[in-house]
Amino acid sequence: MKPVIPTTRRLRSTPPAPISPFPYHPGSLLSVLDLTVGGVSQLLIRATELENEDPILRDHILAKRRIALLFYESSTRTRTSFGLACKALGADTTLVSSLSSSIEKGESLKDTGLTLRALGAEAIILRHNSSGAAWLLEESTRLPVINAGDGMHEHPTQALLDLRTILTHLRPGIAGVAPGTLAGVTVMITGDILHSRVARSNMLLLPRVGARVLLCGPKELLPEQAARSGPGIEIERDFDAALAQSRAVMMLRIQAERLAGLQLDLDEYKANYQLTGQRLAARAPNAVVLHPGPIIRGMEITAGVADGVQSAILEQVTNGLAIRMAVMERALAADTGVPADRSSSVGGQNGGRT
Ligand code: CP
Repeated sequence: MKPVIPTTRRLRSTPPAPISPFPYHPGSLLSVLDLTVGGVSQLLIRATELENEDPILRDHILAKRRIALLFYESSTRTRTSFGLACKALGADTTLVSSLSSSIEKGESLKDTGLTLRALGAEAIILRHNSSGAAWLLEESTRLPVINAGDGMHEHPTQALLDLRTILTHLRPGIAGVAPGTLAGVTVMITGDILHSRVARSNMLLLPRVGARVLLCGPKELLPEQAARSGPGIEIERDFDAALAQSRAVMMLRIQAERLAGLQLDLDEYKANYQLTGQRLAARAPNAVVLHPGPIIRGMEITAGVADGVQSAILEQVTNGLAIRMAVMERALAADTGVPADRSSSVGGQNGGRT
């Protein structure tokens, strides 16, 4: 007997035809490479429109649409902002977390996704500790899946909100982006780049809008091959030299949960790579300081810098809400067909995800 795939409340047609090695939904956002530069620009512009929209009118955009947040890892910023973004558009949301669900009893990601779909979920926002989990969930459910961070791989909405924050500071008044929008701008990313999905998504996105990405950190957390991740990416091991070249300084925490036995001398790390007020004033007095959070004050960044006038850390959080509204509207607008921002990329590098 053929397996029966349960229909969703709103699925009015069969899932879209496969355009990559497995069927994937045009509303999904698994990687920043799912978006053309034009697609990124549309999301940035729409984020601003939605932010400025009358809340009463905005509440109708996804009225009563059902969205599941499926979180296998802890989160404050991403989970809360996705939840609030969905609610701001009028959607009904439910949160399933690995610690209070049948995942604890051993239920698989696939079965959890199919269960949510059978309950009427029309899109799933997934955070998972395994790289690639979002692809598996999409393949299993054929729903739009939004990658809210998969292991050490990608965190696409974080890169979009980081881009919005950088634009606000370095290109004020510019709503969208084109391939040269950040030409001449060096964005430095310092810290645990090896384990960072935030670094990876930014490395895949920022050079496409013209930025130079300068990676900084010790060899244990920043292997040489990172410079070969793509065009526009370089390594500078000397923190002060990197700072002096940068207009945006993105600090990352050391991800203790992913070090897997790697021993680091934390005093040496702080001496070499901690962003202090003194260093910032001496080398990058006009740079904007970013951090995706959570911040470990006194480790990668001092409290004075985190709370200082150059810090845009809380702006990043606020920008997450606007970006995630635009991403969720896109997710549920595309029940069928391939939107324009993807059709030209089919068959390109990265399995069509250019
Ligand atoms: N930036 C980020 O992903 O933060 P959370 O882990 O708190 O969601």
